[in-house]
Amino acid sequence: MFVLVNLKTYPCDPIAIAEAVRDVNDTTDARLAVAPQAAHIERVAETGVETWAQHVDPIEYGSNTGHTLAETAADAGAVGTLINHSERRLKLADIDGALRAAERSDLETIVCANNPTQVGAAAALEPDAVAVEPPELIGTGTPVSQADPDIVRDAVEAAETVDPDVAVLCGAGISTGDDVVSASDLGTEGVLLASGVAKADDPTAALESLVEPL
Ligand code: G3P
Repeated sequence: MFVLVNLKTYPCDPIAIAEAVRDVNDTTDARLAVAPQAAHIERVAETGVETWAQHVDPIEYGSNTGHTLAETAADAGAVGTLINHSERRLKLADIDGALRAAERSDLETIVCANNPTQVGAAAALEPDAVAVEPPELIGTGTPVSQADPDIVRDAVEAAETVDPDVAVLCGAGISTGDDVVSASDLGTEGVLLASGVAKADDPTAALESLVEPL
């Protein structure tokens, strides 16, 4: 299972969490990575942890004030990027453009979607993976894999129908190893999570408990 810890803009210590993710990654067969804010990518990547961008824009080098260029994220050490996170929505044409920008920089891609219908549309754009995240469950501690298993099952089916090569992940409310096991049982290849680690008193213990049953 792939476990991507999204730090959003939480007031956590990105380096301490990056080191915890790196160290727990070394103890498990699961693949752990962290997605810090753009300004922290370089320092986080220097810890040796697998580092992802939270977003890249559908742009090239040029006059794009305030944007995130895929090439710059990759130069800073990112190996992948989220696109169209629920908190950073893009229009369809811009999701496509961001995917092409990520491809130029050899960034692995996960396109986020609210529901199975959007998962199917996202899969048609040929990302490496799609992630279904019901917005109403994000940050609640109520895990999508247990609270709404049908949305995860339907997302897996929707992506499979469009392009069987596109992996499916799920996210929202995931915070325990049981949540991750449920996600795996539903056919996903990974989870996105944030508050369960970024807001934990002891991020290392939170990460250890997440991967313990895997
Ligand atoms: O990107 C993952 C995120 O949206 C899920 O947030 O806090 O529910 O784990 P959280």
